[in-house]
Amino acid sequence: PAPGWSISADVVIVGSGVAGLTAALRCEAAGLTTVVVTKARLDDGSTRWAQGGVAAALGEGDTPEQHLEDTLVAGAGLCDEEAVRILVTEGPDAVRRLISTGAHFDTDDEGGIHLTREGGHHRRRIAHAGGDATGAEVSRALVEAVHARGLHTIENALVLDLLTDADGRTAGVTLHVMGEGQHDGVGAVHAPAVVLATGGMGQVFSATTNPSVATGDGVALALRAGAEVSDLEFVQFHPTVLFLGPDAEGQQPLVSEAVRGEGAHLVDGDGVRFMVGQHELAELAPRDIVAKGILRRMLEQDAEHMFLDARHFGAAMWEHRFPTILAACRANGIDPVTEPIPIAPAAHHASGGVRTDAQGRTTVPGLYACGEVACTGVHGANRLASNSLLEGLVYAERIAADIASAHAGNGLHARVPEPVPHPEKPAYPLLAPEARFAIQRIMTEGAGVLRSADALEKAADQLQRLHTEARDALEENGKTAEPGVDTWEATNLLCVARVLVAAARLREETRGCHWREDRAERDDTQWRRHIVVRLNPDRS
Ligand code: SIN
Repeated sequence: PAPGWSISADVVIVGSGVAGLTAALRCEAAGLTTVVVTKARLDDGSTRWAQGGVAAALGEGDTPEQHLEDTLVAGAGLCDEEAVRILVTEGPDAVRRLISTGAHFDTDDEGGIHLTREGGHHRRRIAHAGGDATGAEVSRALVEAVHARGLHTIENALVLDLLTDADGRTAGVTLHVMGEGQHDGVGAVHAPAVVLATGGMGQVFSATTNPSVATGDGVALALRAGAEVSDLEFVQFHPTVLFLGPDAEGQQPLVSEAVRGEGAHLVDGDGVRFMVGQHELAELAPRDIVAKGILRRMLEQDAEHMFLDARHFGAAMWEHRFPTILAACRANGIDPVTEPIPIAPAAHHASGGVRTDAQGRTTVPGLYACGEVACTGVHGANRLASNSLLEGLVYAERIAADIASAHAGNGLHARVPEPVPHPEKPAYPLLAPEARFAIQRIMTEGAGVLRSADALEKAADQLQRLHTEARDALEENGKTAEPGVDTWEATNLLCVARVLVAAARLREETRGCHWREDRAERDDTQWRRHIVVRLNPDRS
Protein backbone atom coordinates (compact mmCIF):
# COMPACT_ATOMS: atom_id res chain seq x y z
CA PRO A 1 0.00 0.00 0.00
CA ALA A 2 1.00 3.62 -0.46
CA PRO A 3 2.37 5.26 2.69
CA GLY A 4 -0.49 6.45 4.91
CA TRP A 5 1.70 8.84 6.87
CA SER A 6 5.09 10.40 6.51
CA ILE A 7 7.53 12.39 8.58
CA SER A 8 10.86 13.99 7.74
CA ALA A 9 14.19 14.06 9.51
CA ASP A 10 17.85 14.68 8.78
CA VAL A 11 18.68 11.09 9.51
CA VAL A 12 16.78 7.88 10.15
CA ILE A 13 18.46 5.10 12.09
CA VAL A 14 17.13 1.60 11.50
CA GLY A 15 17.81 -0.62 14.51
CA SER A 16 18.40 -0.01 18.18
CA GLY A 17 21.37 -2.06 19.37
CA VAL A 18 24.72 -0.64 20.36
CA ALA A 19 25.41 0.63 16.83
CA GLY A 20 22.01 2.16 16.15
CA LEU A 21 21.60 3.93 19.47
CA THR A 22 25.20 5.17 19.52
CA ALA A 23 24.70 6.60 16.02
CA ALA A 24 21.40 8.14 17.09
CA LEU A 25 22.83 9.79 20.21
CA ARG A 26 25.83 11.18 18.33
CA CYS A 27 23.66 12.47 15.46
CA GLU A 28 21.33 14.16 17.92
CA ALA A 29 24.29 15.68 19.77
CA ALA A 30 25.50 17.08 16.44
CA GLY A 31 22.18 18.89 16.05
CA LEU A 32 20.63 16.59 13.45
CA THR A 33 16.94 15.76 13.68
CA THR A 34 17.08 12.02 14.23
CA VAL A 35 14.44 9.31 14.10
CA VAL A 36 15.14 5.79 15.37
CA VAL A 37 12.96 3.00 13.99
CA THR A 38 13.18 -0.54 15.32
CA LYS A 39 11.37 -3.76 14.49
CA ALA A 40 10.33 -4.70 18.04
CA ARG A 41 11.11 -2.81 21.28
CA LEU A 42 14.26 -0.72 21.65
CA ASP A 43 16.13 -3.39 23.61
CA ASP A 44 14.97 -6.47 21.72
CA GLY A 45 17.99 -6.93 19.43
CA SER A 46 21.20 -8.93 19.79
CA THR A 47 23.10 -6.37 21.88
CA ARG A 48 21.15 -7.23 24.99
CA TRP A 49 22.32 -10.86 24.74
CA ALA A 50 26.04 -10.13 24.48
CA GLN A 51 27.82 -11.76 27.39
CA GLY A 52 31.60 -11.59 27.23
CA GLY A 53 32.09 -7.92 26.70
CA VAL A 54 33.84 -5.20 24.74
CA ALA A 55 37.43 -5.72 23.61
CA ALA A 56 39.73 -2.68 23.78
CA ALA A 57 43.35 -2.02 24.67
CA LEU A 58 42.54 -0.58 28.09
CA GLY A 59 44.87 -2.65 30.27
CA GLU A 60 48.35 -1.83 31.47
CA GLY A 61 50.92 -2.88 28.89
CA ASP A 62 48.32 -3.50 26.22
CA THR A 63 48.36 -1.43 23.04
CA PRO A 64 46.13 -0.95 19.99
CA GLU A 65 48.96 -2.52 17.97
CA GLN A 66 48.67 -5.81 19.92
CA HIS A 67 44.89 -5.75 19.58
CA LEU A 68 45.39 -5.19 15.84
CA GLU A 69 47.71 -8.20 15.62
CA ASP A 70 45.22 -10.52 17.31
CA THR A 71 42.38 -9.23 15.13
CA LEU A 72 44.35 -9.78 11.93
CA VAL A 73 45.34 -13.31 12.93
CA ALA A 74 41.73 -14.24 13.73
CA GLY A 75 40.57 -12.68 10.43
CA ALA A 76 42.64 -15.26 8.49
CA GLY A 77 44.09 -12.92 5.88
CA LEU A 78 40.90 -11.09 4.92
CA CYS A 79 40.74 -8.14 7.35
CA ASP A 80 41.05 -4.66 5.97
CA GLU A 81 44.05 -3.54 8.00
CA GLU A 82 43.12 0.13 7.89
CA ALA A 83 39.61 -0.61 9.13
CA VAL A 84 41.07 -2.67 11.99
CA ARG A 85 43.56 0.08 12.84
CA ILE A 86 40.67 2.54 13.17
CA LEU A 87 38.79 0.05 15.36
CA VAL A 88 41.60 -0.63 17.80
CA THR A 89 42.90 2.96 17.93
CA GLU A 90 39.57 4.69 18.42
CA GLY A 91 38.18 1.81 20.52
CA PRO A 92 39.48 2.71 23.98
CA ASP A 93 38.04 6.24 23.85
CA ALA A 94 34.79 4.96 22.39
CA VAL A 95 34.47 2.67 25.44
CA ARG A 96 35.21 5.62 27.75
CA ARG A 97 32.49 7.64 26.02
CA LEU A 98 30.09 4.73 26.49
CA ILE A 99 30.93 4.87 30.18
CA SER A 100 30.23 8.63 30.19
CA THR A 101 26.89 7.85 28.55
CA GLY A 102 26.04 5.79 31.63
CA ALA A 103 27.24 2.19 31.17
CA HIS A 104 28.74 0.63 34.30
CA PHE A 105 31.52 -1.87 33.74
CA ASP A 106 32.82 -4.28 36.38
CA THR A 107 35.84 -2.96 38.23
CA ASP A 108 38.93 -4.51 39.81
CA ASP A 109 40.19 -4.02 43.37
CA GLU A 110 41.81 -0.70 42.47
CA GLY A 111 38.63 0.63 40.87
CA GLY A 112 39.90 0.23 37.29
CA ILE A 113 37.93 -1.62 34.62
CA HIS A 114 38.27 -5.37 35.21
CA LEU A 115 39.42 -7.10 32.05
CA THR A 116 38.96 -10.73 31.10
CA ARG A 117 40.29 -12.91 28.26
CA GLU A 118 38.58 -14.58 25.34
CA GLY A 119 39.61 -16.72 22.37
CA GLY A 120 42.31 -15.27 20.10
CA HIS A 121 43.33 -12.51 22.51
CA HIS A 122 46.86 -12.76 23.87
CA ARG A 123 45.96 -10.42 26.72
CA ARG A 124 43.23 -9.65 29.18
CA ARG A 125 41.39 -7.07 27.11
CA ILE A 126 37.65 -7.62 27.53
CA ALA A 127 35.67 -5.11 29.59
CA HIS A 128 32.50 -6.64 30.99
CA ALA A 129 29.46 -5.70 33.03
CA GLY A 130 27.22 -7.53 35.48
CA GLY A 131 29.70 -10.42 35.31
CA ASP A 132 28.44 -11.91 32.07
CA ALA A 133 25.63 -9.48 31.18
CA THR A 134 27.60 -6.85 29.30
CA GLY A 135 25.13 -6.39 26.48
CA ALA A 136 22.21 -5.93 28.85
CA GLU A 137 24.05 -3.14 30.63
CA VAL A 138 25.15 -1.47 27.39
CA SER A 139 21.61 -1.65 26.09
CA ARG A 140 20.14 -0.29 29.33
CA ALA A 141 22.52 2.66 29.37
CA LEU A 142 21.92 3.57 25.74
CA VAL A 143 18.13 3.18 25.89
CA GLU A 144 18.03 5.38 29.00
CA ALA A 145 20.19 8.00 27.29
CA VAL A 146 17.93 7.96 24.23
CA HIS A 147 14.87 8.53 26.44
CA ALA A 148 16.65 11.18 28.49
CA ARG A 149 17.56 13.09 25.31
CA GLY A 150 13.97 12.81 24.08
CA LEU A 151 14.90 11.22 20.77
CA HIS A 152 12.09 10.39 18.39
CA THR A 153 11.75 6.61 18.37
CA ILE A 154 9.24 4.41 16.56
CA GLU A 155 9.04 0.84 17.86
CA ASN A 156 7.40 -2.15 16.18
CA ALA A 157 8.41 -0.59 12.88
CA LEU A 158 9.44 -3.05 10.22
CA VAL A 159 11.46 -1.38 7.51
CA LEU A 160 10.28 -2.36 4.06
CA ASP A 161 12.47 -0.57 1.55
CA LEU A 162 14.86 2.23 0.91
CA LEU A 163 13.46 5.27 -0.86
CA THR A 164 15.75 6.81 -3.44
CA ASP A 165 15.52 9.87 -5.65
CA ALA A 166 15.93 10.02 -9.41
CA ASP A 167 19.71 10.20 -9.00
CA GLY A 168 19.74 7.03 -6.93
CA ARG A 169 20.42 8.92 -3.70
CA THR A 170 18.87 7.87 -0.42
CA ALA A 171 15.61 9.63 0.36
CA GLY A 172 14.34 7.68 3.40
CA VAL A 173 12.61 4.41 4.15
CA THR A 174 9.14 2.95 4.03
CA LEU A 175 7.91 1.25 7.19
CA HIS A 176 5.17 -1.06 8.35
CA VAL A 177 4.31 -0.05 11.91
CA MET A 178 2.03 -1.99 14.22
CA GLY A 179 0.09 -0.36 17.04
CA GLU A 180 2.16 2.79 17.53
CA GLY A 181 -0.60 5.40 17.47
CA GLN A 182 0.03 8.25 15.04
CA HIS A 183 2.56 6.17 13.14
CA ASP A 184 0.39 3.12 12.62
CA GLY A 185 0.28 1.22 9.31
CA VAL A 186 2.50 1.73 6.28
CA GLY A 187 4.34 5.04 6.31
CA ALA A 188 7.57 6.70 5.34
CA VAL A 189 10.36 8.56 7.04
CA HIS A 190 11.93 10.90 4.51
CA ALA A 191 15.56 11.58 5.21
CA PRO A 192 18.63 12.12 3.07
CA ALA A 193 20.66 9.85 5.32
CA VAL A 194 19.67 6.35 6.42
CA VAL A 195 21.78 4.31 8.83
CA LEU A 196 21.24 0.56 8.77
CA ALA A 197 21.98 -0.91 12.19
CA THR A 198 19.65 -3.88 12.00
CA GLY A 199 22.02 -6.51 13.41
CA GLY A 200 22.66 -10.01 12.17
CA MET A 201 21.05 -12.95 10.44
CA GLY A 202 21.56 -15.87 12.84
CA GLN A 203 17.94 -16.93 12.34
CA VAL A 204 18.88 -18.21 8.93
CA PHE A 205 19.99 -21.36 10.82
CA SER A 206 17.89 -23.60 13.07
CA ALA A 207 19.99 -23.14 16.21
CA THR A 208 21.58 -19.78 16.95
CA THR A 209 22.52 -17.55 19.83
CA ASN A 210 20.67 -14.70 18.09
CA PRO A 211 17.20 -13.55 19.15
CA SER A 212 14.25 -14.19 16.83
CA VAL A 213 14.46 -10.68 15.34
CA ALA A 214 17.88 -11.37 13.75
CA THR A 215 16.56 -12.13 10.26
CA GLY A 216 18.98 -10.29 7.98
CA ASP A 217 16.52 -7.47 7.27
CA GLY A 218 19.20 -4.82 6.69
CA VAL A 219 21.26 -6.93 4.31
CA ALA A 220 18.11 -7.87 2.36
CA LEU A 221 17.01 -4.23 2.18
CA ALA A 222 20.46 -3.17 1.03
CA LEU A 223 20.50 -5.85 -1.65
CA ARG A 224 17.10 -4.76 -2.93
CA ALA A 225 18.37 -1.18 -2.97
CA GLY A 226 21.34 -2.18 -5.15
CA ALA A 227 24.03 -1.86 -2.46
CA GLU A 228 27.03 -4.15 -2.40
CA VAL A 229 27.24 -6.90 0.17
CA SER A 230 30.45 -8.71 1.02
CA ASP A 231 31.78 -11.79 2.86
CA LEU A 232 28.38 -13.37 3.61
CA GLU A 233 29.90 -16.85 3.54
CA PHE A 234 31.74 -16.11 6.79
CA VAL A 235 29.18 -17.05 9.42
CA GLN A 236 30.76 -17.49 12.79
CA PHE A 237 29.62 -20.48 14.82
CA HIS A 238 30.14 -19.94 18.52
CA PRO A 239 31.96 -22.98 19.93
CA THR A 240 30.17 -23.19 23.26
CA VAL A 241 26.42 -22.97 23.09
CA LEU A 242 24.44 -24.90 25.68
CA PHE A 243 23.38 -28.16 24.03
CA LEU A 244 19.66 -28.70 24.57
CA GLY A 245 19.19 -31.69 22.28
CA PRO A 246 19.70 -32.40 18.58
CA ASP A 247 16.36 -30.89 17.60
CA ALA A 248 16.62 -27.67 19.60
CA GLU A 249 15.55 -24.74 17.43
CA GLY A 250 15.64 -20.97 17.66
CA GLN A 251 17.65 -18.94 20.15
CA GLN A 252 19.93 -21.09 22.32
CA PRO A 253 21.73 -20.03 25.53
CA LEU A 254 25.32 -18.89 25.01
CA VAL A 255 28.12 -20.00 27.32
CA SER A 256 30.54 -17.10 26.97
CA GLU A 257 34.14 -17.51 25.88
CA ALA A 258 34.94 -15.61 29.03
CA VAL A 259 34.23 -18.86 30.90
CA ARG A 260 37.19 -20.36 29.05
CA GLY A 261 39.03 -17.07 29.54
CA GLU A 262 38.76 -17.64 33.28
CA GLY A 263 40.07 -21.20 32.99
CA ALA A 264 37.30 -23.61 31.98
CA HIS A 265 38.36 -26.69 29.98
CA LEU A 266 36.83 -28.28 26.91
CA VAL A 267 36.60 -32.03 27.39
CA ASP A 268 35.15 -34.96 25.50
CA GLY A 269 32.91 -37.65 26.93
CA ASP A 270 35.97 -39.37 28.44
CA GLY A 271 37.07 -36.17 30.19
CA VAL A 272 40.04 -35.62 27.79
CA ARG A 273 41.06 -32.01 27.02
CA PHE A 274 41.12 -32.28 23.24
CA MET A 275 42.19 -28.69 22.39
CA VAL A 276 45.54 -29.10 24.12
CA GLY A 277 48.18 -29.66 21.45
CA GLN A 278 45.93 -28.39 18.65
CA HIS A 279 46.88 -24.73 19.12
CA GLU A 280 49.28 -22.81 21.36
CA LEU A 281 46.28 -21.14 23.03
CA ALA A 282 44.41 -24.47 23.47
CA GLU A 283 40.81 -23.62 24.55
CA LEU A 284 41.53 -19.95 23.89
CA ALA A 285 42.49 -20.36 20.24
CA PRO A 286 40.50 -18.19 17.80
CA ARG A 287 36.88 -19.14 17.64
CA ASP A 288 36.91 -20.90 14.28
CA ILE A 289 39.69 -23.21 15.42
CA VAL A 290 37.90 -24.11 18.64
CA ALA A 291 34.59 -24.69 16.82
CA LYS A 292 36.38 -26.96 14.35
CA GLY A 293 38.17 -28.79 17.17
CA ILE A 294 34.84 -29.46 18.88
CA LEU A 295 33.10 -30.62 15.73
CA ARG A 296 36.00 -32.84 14.73
CA ARG A 297 35.91 -34.57 18.11
CA MET A 298 32.14 -34.92 17.87
CA LEU A 299 32.52 -36.62 14.50
CA GLU A 300 35.36 -38.87 15.71
CA GLN A 301 33.35 -39.99 18.72
CA ASP A 302 29.96 -39.91 17.01
CA ALA A 303 28.85 -37.61 19.83
CA GLU A 304 26.12 -34.99 19.74
CA HIS A 305 28.08 -32.57 21.91
CA MET A 306 31.24 -32.01 23.94
CA PHE A 307 31.56 -30.59 27.46
CA LEU A 308 32.82 -27.42 29.09
CA ASP A 309 34.16 -28.20 32.52
CA ALA A 310 34.34 -25.35 35.03
CA ARG A 311 33.49 -27.19 38.21
CA HIS A 312 36.77 -25.96 39.68
CA PHE A 313 35.44 -22.36 39.70
CA GLY A 314 33.31 -23.28 42.70
CA ALA A 315 29.87 -21.91 43.55
CA ALA A 316 30.99 -18.45 44.69
CA MET A 317 32.84 -17.65 41.49
CA TRP A 318 30.03 -18.96 39.33
CA GLU A 319 27.53 -16.81 41.18
CA HIS A 320 29.65 -13.68 41.14
CA ARG A 321 31.28 -13.84 37.73
CA PHE A 322 28.80 -15.71 35.51
CA PRO A 323 25.34 -15.31 37.04
CA THR A 324 23.50 -15.22 33.68
CA ILE A 325 25.08 -18.42 32.40
CA LEU A 326 24.63 -20.14 35.75
CA ALA A 327 20.93 -19.29 35.73
CA ALA A 328 20.49 -20.43 32.09
CA CYS A 329 22.21 -23.75 32.83
CA ARG A 330 20.22 -24.37 35.98
CA ALA A 331 16.98 -23.44 34.19
CA ASN A 332 17.82 -26.27 31.80
CA GLY A 333 18.63 -28.79 34.51
CA ILE A 334 22.43 -28.52 34.47
CA ASP A 335 24.47 -27.35 37.44
CA PRO A 336 27.91 -26.17 36.24
CA VAL A 337 29.16 -26.11 39.83
CA THR A 338 28.86 -29.87 40.06
CA GLU A 339 28.81 -31.14 36.45
CA PRO A 340 30.38 -30.31 33.07
CA ILE A 341 28.18 -28.29 30.71
CA PRO A 342 27.12 -29.99 27.46
CA ILE A 343 27.97 -27.66 24.58
CA ALA A 344 28.01 -27.62 20.78
CA PRO A 345 28.66 -24.92 18.18
CA ALA A 346 25.73 -22.83 16.91
CA ALA A 347 25.39 -19.88 14.53
CA HIS A 348 26.44 -16.70 16.27
CA HIS A 349 27.70 -13.79 14.18
CA ALA A 350 27.80 -12.64 10.55
CA SER A 351 31.31 -11.48 9.77
CA GLY A 352 30.12 -10.14 6.41
CA GLY A 353 27.31 -7.77 5.53
CA VAL A 354 26.65 -4.51 3.71
CA ARG A 355 29.97 -3.28 2.39
CA THR A 356 31.08 0.09 3.78
CA ASP A 357 34.06 2.38 3.70
CA ALA A 358 35.82 3.76 6.77
CA GLN A 359 33.03 6.32 7.29
CA GLY A 360 30.37 3.63 7.24
CA ARG A 361 29.15 4.69 3.79
CA THR A 362 27.66 1.93 1.62
CA THR A 363 27.79 1.98 -2.17
CA VAL A 364 24.37 3.74 -2.30
CA PRO A 365 24.83 7.47 -1.65
CA GLY A 366 23.30 8.50 1.67
CA LEU A 367 22.93 4.90 2.91
CA TYR A 368 25.18 3.94 5.84
CA ALA A 369 25.62 0.69 7.77
CA CYS A 370 27.18 -0.14 11.13
CA GLY A 371 27.23 -2.99 13.60
CA GLU A 372 26.64 -6.60 12.60
CA VAL A 373 24.72 -5.67 9.43
CA ALA A 374 27.83 -3.99 8.05
CA CYS A 375 30.98 -5.34 6.51
CA THR A 376 33.50 -2.66 7.46
CA GLY A 377 36.39 -5.08 6.88
CA VAL A 378 37.37 -5.43 10.52
CA HIS A 379 36.39 -9.08 10.86
CA GLY A 380 37.79 -10.64 7.71
CA ALA A 381 37.03 -14.34 7.57
CA ASN A 382 36.46 -14.70 11.31
CA ARG A 383 35.64 -12.07 13.92
CA LEU A 384 37.82 -11.82 16.98
CA ALA A 385 35.78 -12.32 20.15
CA SER A 386 34.20 -9.19 21.65
CA ASN A 387 35.17 -6.98 18.73
CA SER A 388 31.57 -6.56 17.67
CA LEU A 389 30.23 -4.25 20.38
CA LEU A 390 33.40 -2.25 19.82
CA GLU A 391 32.83 -2.12 16.08
CA GLY A 392 29.28 -0.92 16.70
CA LEU A 393 30.53 1.90 18.90
CA VAL A 394 33.45 3.06 16.77
CA TYR A 395 31.80 2.97 13.37
CA ALA A 396 28.51 4.44 14.61
CA GLU A 397 30.47 7.44 15.87
CA ARG A 398 32.25 7.76 12.53
CA ILE A 399 28.94 7.64 10.66
CA ALA A 400 27.45 10.37 12.86
CA ALA A 401 30.50 12.54 12.22
CA ASP A 402 30.25 11.97 8.47
CA ILE A 403 26.54 12.77 8.34
CA ALA A 404 27.05 15.86 10.50
CA SER A 405 29.78 17.15 8.25
CA ALA A 406 27.77 16.44 5.07
CA HIS A 407 24.85 18.24 6.70
CA ALA A 408 27.01 21.22 7.66
CA GLY A 409 28.22 21.43 4.06
CA ASN A 410 24.59 21.23 2.92
CA GLY A 411 25.46 17.98 1.19
CA LEU A 412 22.35 16.34 2.59
CA HIS A 413 19.56 18.91 2.47
CA ALA A 414 20.27 20.07 -1.06
CA ARG A 415 19.21 16.73 -2.37
CA VAL A 416 16.05 15.93 -0.44
CA PRO A 417 13.70 14.82 -3.21
CA GLU A 418 9.98 14.39 -3.52
CA PRO A 419 9.11 11.06 -1.95
CA VAL A 420 8.89 8.14 -4.32
CA PRO A 421 5.50 6.45 -3.93
CA HIS A 422 5.64 2.93 -2.59
CA PRO A 423 4.16 0.51 -5.13
CA GLU A 424 0.76 -1.04 -4.44
CA LYS A 425 2.16 -4.53 -4.81
CA PRO A 426 5.66 -5.64 -3.90
CA ALA A 427 7.83 -6.09 -6.98
CA TYR A 428 9.19 -9.28 -5.47
CA PRO A 429 7.39 -12.26 -4.01
CA LEU A 430 6.71 -12.45 -0.30
CA LEU A 431 7.04 -15.82 1.41
CA ALA A 432 4.55 -17.37 3.78
CA PRO A 433 5.80 -17.23 7.41
CA GLU A 434 6.25 -21.04 7.58
CA ALA A 435 8.98 -20.79 4.94
CA ARG A 436 11.26 -19.56 7.74
CA PHE A 437 11.54 -23.08 9.16
CA ALA A 438 12.16 -24.64 5.76
CA ILE A 439 14.96 -22.13 5.13
CA GLN A 440 16.50 -22.84 8.54
CA ARG A 441 16.50 -26.59 7.93
CA ILE A 442 17.97 -26.21 4.44
CA MET A 443 20.72 -23.90 5.72
CA THR A 444 21.56 -26.02 8.76
CA GLU A 445 21.92 -29.13 6.61
CA GLY A 446 23.68 -27.54 3.67
CA ALA A 447 25.59 -24.47 4.81
CA GLY A 448 26.35 -25.05 8.50
CA VAL A 449 29.66 -25.25 10.26
CA LEU A 450 31.02 -27.98 7.92
CA ARG A 451 30.28 -27.44 4.22
CA SER A 452 30.85 -29.28 0.95
CA ALA A 453 30.15 -28.61 -2.73
CA ASP A 454 27.42 -31.25 -2.84
CA ALA A 455 25.63 -30.10 0.28
CA LEU A 456 25.80 -26.47 -0.82
CA GLU A 457 24.47 -27.32 -4.26
CA LYS A 458 21.52 -29.12 -2.73
CA ALA A 459 20.83 -26.16 -0.45
CA ALA A 460 21.03 -23.75 -3.40
CA ASP A 461 18.51 -25.85 -5.36
CA GLN A 462 16.09 -26.06 -2.45
CA LEU A 463 16.28 -22.32 -1.80
CA GLN A 464 15.81 -21.60 -5.50
CA ARG A 465 12.70 -23.76 -5.48
CA LEU A 466 11.20 -21.73 -2.62
CA HIS A 467 11.96 -18.54 -4.51
CA THR A 468 10.60 -19.81 -7.83
CA GLU A 469 7.35 -21.02 -6.29
CA ALA A 470 6.72 -17.67 -4.64
CA ARG A 471 7.73 -15.74 -7.78
CA ASP A 472 5.53 -17.83 -10.07
CA ALA A 473 2.55 -17.38 -7.76
CA LEU A 474 3.05 -13.62 -7.92
CA GLU A 475 3.68 -13.42 -11.65
CA GLU A 476 1.08 -15.92 -12.81
CA ASN A 477 -1.87 -15.02 -10.63
CA GLY A 478 -0.77 -11.94 -8.69
CA LYS A 479 -0.71 -13.90 -5.44
CA THR A 480 1.71 -13.18 -2.64
CA ALA A 481 1.69 -13.77 1.10
CA GLU A 482 -0.08 -11.12 3.17
CA PRO A 483 2.51 -8.43 4.06
CA GLY A 484 3.42 -8.50 7.74
CA VAL A 485 6.41 -8.96 10.00
CA ASP A 486 6.51 -12.76 9.64
CA THR A 487 6.24 -12.71 5.86
CA TRP A 488 8.89 -10.04 5.50
CA GLU A 489 11.20 -11.90 7.86
CA ALA A 490 10.82 -15.12 5.87
CA THR A 491 11.35 -13.21 2.63
CA ASN A 492 14.47 -11.50 3.97
CA LEU A 493 15.84 -14.78 5.31
CA LEU A 494 15.48 -16.37 1.88
CA CYS A 495 17.19 -13.42 0.23
CA VAL A 496 20.25 -13.54 2.53
CA ALA A 497 20.35 -17.36 2.53
CA ARG A 498 20.59 -17.47 -1.26
CA VAL A 499 23.46 -15.00 -1.34
CA LEU A 500 25.23 -16.74 1.53
CA VAL A 501 25.03 -20.11 -0.21
CA ALA A 502 26.12 -18.65 -3.54
CA ALA A 503 29.20 -17.13 -1.88
CA ALA A 504 29.97 -20.32 0.04
CA ARG A 505 29.82 -22.33 -3.21
CA LEU A 506 32.17 -19.93 -4.94
CA ARG A 507 34.77 -19.95 -2.18
CA GLU A 508 36.45 -23.26 -2.90
CA GLU A 509 38.79 -23.29 0.07
CA THR A 510 38.71 -23.41 3.86
CA ARG A 511 39.36 -20.08 5.56
CA GLY A 512 38.33 -18.63 8.91
CA CYS A 513 34.82 -19.71 9.73
CA HIS A 514 34.14 -21.01 6.19
CA TRP A 515 35.01 -24.71 6.45
CA ARG A 516 34.78 -26.88 3.33
CA GLU A 517 35.41 -30.58 3.91
CA ASP A 518 36.04 -31.01 0.17
CA ARG A 519 38.54 -28.11 0.07
CA ALA A 520 40.29 -28.50 3.38
CA GLU A 521 43.17 -26.07 2.78
CA ARG A 522 43.39 -22.31 2.80
CA ASP A 523 44.30 -21.15 -0.71
CA ASP A 524 46.07 -17.79 -0.64
CA THR A 525 46.97 -17.93 -4.31
CA GLN A 526 43.30 -17.82 -5.40
CA TRP A 527 41.24 -16.76 -2.48
CA ARG A 528 42.85 -13.96 -0.54
CA ARG A 529 40.00 -11.79 -1.79
CA HIS A 530 36.41 -10.95 -1.05
CA ILE A 531 33.21 -12.11 -2.65
CA VAL A 532 31.11 -9.01 -3.27
CA VAL A 533 27.50 -9.35 -4.38
CA ARG A 534 25.11 -6.83 -5.91
CA LEU A 535 21.65 -7.96 -7.03
CA ASN A 536 20.51 -7.51 -10.58
CA PRO A 537 17.87 -4.80 -10.93
CA ASP A 538 15.27 -7.52 -11.62
CA ARG A 539 16.16 -8.89 -8.15
CA SER A 540 16.26 -12.45 -9.38
C1 SIN B 1 31.03 -14.54 24.24
O1 SIN B 1 30.77 -14.00 25.29
O2 SIN B 1 31.58 -15.62 24.11
C2 SIN B 1 30.61 -13.84 23.00
C3 SIN B 1 31.56 -12.78 22.70
C4 SIN B 1 31.45 -12.44 21.28
O3 SIN B 1 30.73 -13.09 20.53
O4 SIN B 1 32.15 -11.52 20.86
